Amino acid sequence: MNLIVSADENWGIGRNNQLLVRIPDDLRLFRELTEGKVVVMGRKTRESLPNGILANRVNLVLTHDRHYEAGNAVVVHSMDELHRRLEPYPTDEVYVIGGGSVYSQLLDECSTAYVTKIEFAYAADAYAPNLDHLPEWELIAESEEQTYFDLIYYFRKYKAKGRNHGYNR
Ligand SMILES: NC(=O)c1ccc[n+]([C@@H]2O[C@H](COP(=O)([O-])OP(=O)(O)OC[C@H]3O[C@@H](n4cnc5c(N)ncnc54)[C@H](OP(=O)(O)O)[C@@H]3O)[C@@H](O)[C@H]2O)c1
Repeated sequence: MNLIVSADENWGIGRNNQLLVRIPDDLRLFRELTEGKVVVMGRKTRESLPNGILANRVNLVLTHDRHYEAGNAVVVHSMDELHRRLEPYPTDEVYVIGGGSVYSQLLDECSTAYVTKIEFAYAADAYAPNLDHLPEWELIAESEEQTYFDLIYYFRKYKAKGRNHGYNR
């Protein structure tokens, strides 16, 4: 599985169920990487999406609510059910897209993380795991400095050591 996130200096990712900032080139990279693939998200992240669904992708939404309806998205109610629904798909085609609670639960099953790292500390209330502090994760690639108005950010790629896409649970 892959993880994809934009995180600020403190690995903050959101506030009041919204992104901290919308950077057009970041949103474009997100679309390029995930289109045609499977995206896994929590119910709160789904509700933060402008249309409640990401087009041209298989959308899987986690919630404990048995009555939750999410249009064309597939609703799953537990990690076990998620794994059953993911069985038909190659793990390298699965992208964990957040939010914080879902990143934490699926981090150990991910082998690659695409991180847009923003050099600013926002007031956040949702966080991704800090991959720089986890010894099993290593930074393997970083873009040149990117700018959006006065923001500086980098596209980073991390790999989990000794883990490949075949790893599952
Ligand atoms: N910067 C980024 O790249 C990025 C990406 C995604 C999201 N975000 C931000 O992150 C924030 C949302 O993150 P969050 O942690 O608050 O919420 P979240 O992870 O999006 O959703 C949490 C919800 O998912 C459901 N859930 C989680 N684990 C489950 C499990 N094992 N079984 C069944 N249901 C499960 C529960 O829904 P129920 O309560 O319905 O049971 C839970 O309340 C927002 O601010 C959003 O904008 C940022």
